[in-house]
Order: sequence, then structure tokens, then C-alpha cells
Amino acid sequence: MELVIKDARITGREGLTDIGLEGGEIASIQPGLKGEKEISAEGNLVSPSFYEIHIHLDAILTEGDPRPNQSGSLWEGISIWAERVKRLTPEDIRARVLKALRWFVAHGVTHIRSHVDICDPSLVAMKTLVEIKKEAAGLIDLQLVAFPQLGIFSFDGGEELLQRALEMGADVVGGIPHYEHTREYGVQDVKFALDLAHRTGLLADIHCDETDDDQSRFLETMAAETIRLKLGGRVAASHTTAMHSYNNAYADKIISLVKKSGMHVISNPPDNSVLQGRFDHYPIRRGLTRVKELLAAGVNVAAGHDSVMDPWYPMGAGDPLHTAFILLHYGMMSGRQDRQHLFPMLTSRPAAIWGNPHGLEAGNPADLIVWPVPTEDDALRTIPPRRYVIKRGRIVAETKPEKSLVLGETVKFLR
Ligand code: FE2
Repeated sequence: MELVIKDARITGREGLTDIGLEGGEIASIQPGLKGEKEISAEGNLVSPSFYEIHIHLDAILTEGDPRPNQSGSLWEGISIWAERVKRLTPEDIRARVLKALRWFVAHGVTHIRSHVDICDPSLVAMKTLVEIKKEAAGLIDLQLVAFPQLGIFSFDGGEELLQRALEMGADVVGGIPHYEHTREYGVQDVKFALDLAHRTGLLADIHCDETDDDQSRFLETMAAETIRLKLGGRVAASHTTAMHSYNNAYADKIISLVKKSGMHVISNPPDNSVLQGRFDHYPIRRGLTRVKELLAAGVNVAAGHDSVMDPWYPMGAGDPLHTAFILLHYGMMSGRQDRQHLFPMLTSRPAAIWGNPHGLEAGNPADLIVWPVPTEDDALRTIPPRRYVIKRGRIVAETKPEKSLVLGETVKFLR
């Protein structure tokens, strides 16, 4: 074996084991393996690496520039970003994205799906991110979504820009029906994006119903079109926060339809926990989609951060554990059974949206995290630095955590 991780604890498996890696894949999982190079998990958790399945890299680390989002609303965020887009340069994008990618890698992220705003006639962000994607390959895999932030039909030239972005190298078709000027444009937005995915063979990931308006119902159009065009498995609906506010009879119908369509759903707890409910007086709605109900219906649901320090969300450090921690609280997923969904929502479930095999099984890619704590619950509680991050069998990040931070071992009690 090229690399062996000794004394690893794997969720759902009794006792400790070794994990042998060879040729970029997991070659064997059993005790007593010998490797050319060996590292020890010291009895701690080894998990699959994280997929950051929904982020906006073009806007990352721009918080406060040109001005802070005072209301904290999605709409103020979009208008601030529309100003910032005009000052984008390759150098500006490159400096911010490369800084953030290091943070993601250090936190165990090996794959990132980034939406990239294409409502800019220069398409400078897409062009620069296509270059960065090539340069970063091997360290972190990028998947780029052609994302029409200001609408396909409500922004002058939106249709053409979306198609040009795909020709430039975008991997996924995006959309934003709830932001279009009219409901009719919104339906057109979904149909245009999914038809494009159908014709090009690409995946689709649409920002859908990211609003508290219980009349925003583009998810049903997405599901119906996915069924009609036989796109099941290739389409993801991001955010779908309006589902929080649907009446229960309609929510039940739409969840069944989403399941039938084979669509994936991506929830974005950090951003939507602060962006939603901004027009409410008490009681204030939570504004996440119905994660538990979708999972119970058998829908593949993953969780993405959405933003790190940008006009929509001023916090974050490129750590998917923050996403899971917030989801546990806002999605009321603190029950033991519900908690077991949280790691898969950052690992195997987003990998399925991407179309990749992922998980601790022989033959799968050797994309792993070695933790300094024994369980997923401990990782979530303490959010510790990752001990090792392994991408395709190669150690790409290593952190020696302070024991006092993780276990309190250096704290001396007073008598
Ligand atoms: Fe988003």
C-alpha cells in the first residue's frame, strides 16, 4: 500500500481498523495493513472528505465592499453585489478565491460546486474561475454553475450570457425563477434552463423559491419539467425556502412530486437562517426548506454553505461543519436519528448530486478526513482542526491541533 491510515474509527463499524490507499483509491479496509508510508488516526474518526455543494466563489470575501448589508436581507445583498460586479477583475477574483480555497482544503473539502454570476457582459468571473479550476485540479475539484443572479429573462441578454458561459467551460446550468420580474418569466426561466441541460447533456442546479413568499411555486415546474425531459438524477433545486411557508397539504404534494422526479434538493442553512424571515414581525419564520420531511420521503438532500463573508452572509471560514451545526439547530435535527443524516449531507449525498462515488468502501476515491476526535458528534460539537486531509491518496493538509482546544487536557483545576 502507498499510504496506510492505522487505528481508524469508522462510523457504523465496531472497533478500530486500518485503511490502505493505493493509486488514488481506497484499496483495503482491514486491520494489520502495511504501507510504504503510515499515519495513525490514534483511534479517532476517519470520514469521507467534504463536498461543498453550494457556494458562490466569485463573491467570496467581499463582505463590506462597497458597503455592508445593513438590513441583512437577500434583496439588499443582491443590490450590493450588482455594484461590486462592476469592479471585478481577474486579479481581484484570483486573490480572494485562492485564499478561500486554502481554507476549504484545510477543512477537508475536496470538491466545490460554485455558482458564478453570469449577469455581466464581460463574464470575467466565469473566465477566471475556469482558469482556476484547471490550476487547482488535483488539490480540489471545482464544478462551475452558470448562475444568472439577476434573471435569464429580466436581465438584458441573460439567455445569450448563459449560453456563452457554458461554451466557456461552465459545467452546470443555473437559474433563478423567483427573482424574475413576473411569474411567467419565472416559469420560462426554469423551462429554458432545463431544456438547455437536456440539449447539452449537462447537469442543472437552480436557485429555486429562495423567498418567504408561500406563493412562490417554481419547484413544481422544476419537478414537472424534470419528469417530462427525463432528467431525474441530473437536476438539483437549491434553497427552496418557500417550502417552509407552504400550507402542509401543498408541501405534502410537492415533496411527493420532487421524489417522483428524481430531483436532488440542496439546503443552505447558514445564509437562509439569517436571510429569511426579514419581513416578519414576531413570530419570525425559520426559513429553511423542509429537510426532515424531504429525507423521510426518500429525496436526496445535501447541505451547502452558500456564502463565506460576502454581501449575503458576513461569517464563515470555509468549513462545512458550520453548515451542519446550523442545520442541526434551525432544522431541528438534534434527535439521534436525525443527527446521523448530517455527515452524509456533507459527503455521500452531495457526491451523488455531482455524480461521483464517495464513501469508505474499497474501490472508491481516497478522499478522506482524519479527525482528532472519535465520533461525528464530537466533530460537530467541537468543530476541531482537521488532523489530515487526503485527496486522491495524497495528504493535502495537516494540522496539529492544540490539545487544550479539543480535550481540555492542559487545563489545570484550582483547588
Ligand atoms: Fe446560492
